[in-house]
Amino acid sequence: MEPTKSVLNVNGIEVIYNHVILVLKGVSLNVPEGKIAAVLGGNGAGKTTTLRAISNLLKAERGEVTKGSIELRGERIENLTPADLVNRGVVQVMEGRHCFAHLT
Ligand SMILES: Nc1ncnc2c1ncn2[C@@H]1O[C@H](COP(=O)(O)OP(=O)(O)OP(=O)(O)O)[C@@H](O)[C@H]1O
Ligand SMILES: [Mg+2]
Repeated sequence: MEPTKSVLNVNGIEVIYNHVILVLKGVSLNVPEGKIAAVLGGNGAGKTTTLRAISNLLKAERGEVTKGSIELRGERIENLTPADLVNRGVVQVMEGRHCFAHLT
């Protein structure tokens, strides 16, 4: 049997906010082709930060990935813009029902 291909690979990332607040250290996850991955954790554990690192939306929050790597289908994506990532199918759905308040 062929080994399952990986769609998304997060390898040992570290994230710091405001140049000083270390919130993620050595976070790794793997999403295999055709599978669904869930990230579980208590309030403030770093779930949203992990997603922001993947979708490259940390800059707006004064956060940055300072260690590790993120790969989409084997290609490094840490330096892609959020727009480039969306074009490749990496879309972060924002939290909170208010984002649909104006829709019928
Ligand atoms: N913009 C920011 N500046 C500084 N610290 C932040 C910022 N955003 C989040 N943090 C801190 O980073 C840590 C991880 O927060 P994060 O929002 O990623 O957790 P979470 O797992 O998504 O929590 P929740 O379950 O409440 O959504 C927390 O200690 C939080 O206070
Ligand atoms: Mg969150």
